[in-house]
Amino acid sequence: MSAQPVLRVFVTRRIPQEGLELLQRAAVCTVSLWDSDEPVPRAELLKGVEGAHGLLCLLSDRIDAEVLDAAGPNLKVISTMSVGFDHLAIDEIKKREIRVGYTPDVLTDATAELTVALLLATARRLPEGIQEVKSGGWSSWKPLWLCGYGLSGSTVGVIGLGRIGLAVARRLKPFGVKRLLYSGRQPKPQAQEVDGEYVPLDSLLCESDFVVVSCALSPETQGLCDKAFFTKMKTTAVFINTSRGAVVNQEDLYEALTAGQIAAAGLDVTTPEPLPTDHPLLALKNCVVLPHIGSATYSTRGIMAKLTANNLLAGLTGEAMPSELKL
Ligand code: NDP
Ligand code: DGY
Repeated sequence: MSAQPVLRVFVTRRIPQEGLELLQRAAVCTVSLWDSDEPVPRAELLKGVEGAHGLLCLLSDRIDAEVLDAAGPNLKVISTMSVGFDHLAIDEIKKREIRVGYTPDVLTDATAELTVALLLATARRLPEGIQEVKSGGWSSWKPLWLCGYGLSGSTVGVIGLGRIGLAVARRLKPFGVKRLLYSGRQPKPQAQEVDGEYVPLDSLLCESDFVVVSCALSPETQGLCDKAFFTKMKTTAVFINTSRGAVVNQEDLYEALTAGQIAAAGLDVTTPEPLPTDHPLLALKNCVVLPHIGSATYSTRGIMAKLTANNLLAGLTGEAMPSELKL
């Protein structure tokens, strides 16, 4: 008779089968799953995590001191199915010597593709055009109707030239981008590959035709895109954010879009998520909002789920994780 596994993991959502199977087949643990496509209610999270040795969570689960206390001293590993980790109270986690796994790299291509798609859709006004076709607003070919902004000969500014920022730059360059500017905490040697010029944020904002935000959310970047930020941008510039909603002050963005301070904005991320359907930004033709689908390809989500499960299992057994966050 084989011994029952003594380690227990709590999984906060139904994740792609590839990942779930790895956990369910693992001999080292038993799995409690919040078996739904919708987020686990807070009370269920606090209950589910009680006494768990491992926690597999998503970016929509706030893992703070309350959750860690509810889990208790057994908890040795948290594995998030995301590269962003702003939903984790890192200081509290570190204090308790809990290891963290995350999913860098495997979603970079999918997210960069979506960023380019959103940029083009916003700059060339695709949602407006589609709506006009459906509503009968398309009366004829007209010289200035639905004109937007093109990438050829443009200056693109990337805020945060990390994995995704660089992958976006790589994809945009072949559209004929003339200058690729970037800002961040320090120059990046890998910027050479895209002829990236490291500039102060203010110069990036003044000179760019397209401003793409690809940085992580941190106390330093929270609310970075505010009134002063938008005021420095060109009135013809397009703003794109696929990082986290909280990097943007949405009231200031609304003001910039309605006052003609900037031309248009494309957002894959908002505060809150989901954005209420009566939110003022959704009434604007020059604002394109997507429901946080940067990494949403079938294959990417499957790979993310597997990596998340493997990180969790490695953390449980004290082995090296495929992708461990350095705390
Ligand atoms: P990286 O860590 O590779 O890149 C983040 C970049 O942000 C780094 O280059 C970092 O620079 C830079 N940065 C940090 N602080 C600042 C600052 N104050 N100003 C400007 N830049 C700064 O992460 P990824 O590229 O893999 O992911 C980036 C973010 O994208 C994630 O944190 C997540 O929030 C978001 N994301 C969104 C997705 C979506 O579905 N929309 C999908 C995947 C990710 P440095 O190296 O100097 O710290
Ligand atoms: C992340 O991984 O941080 C994204 O926001 C979702 O894939």
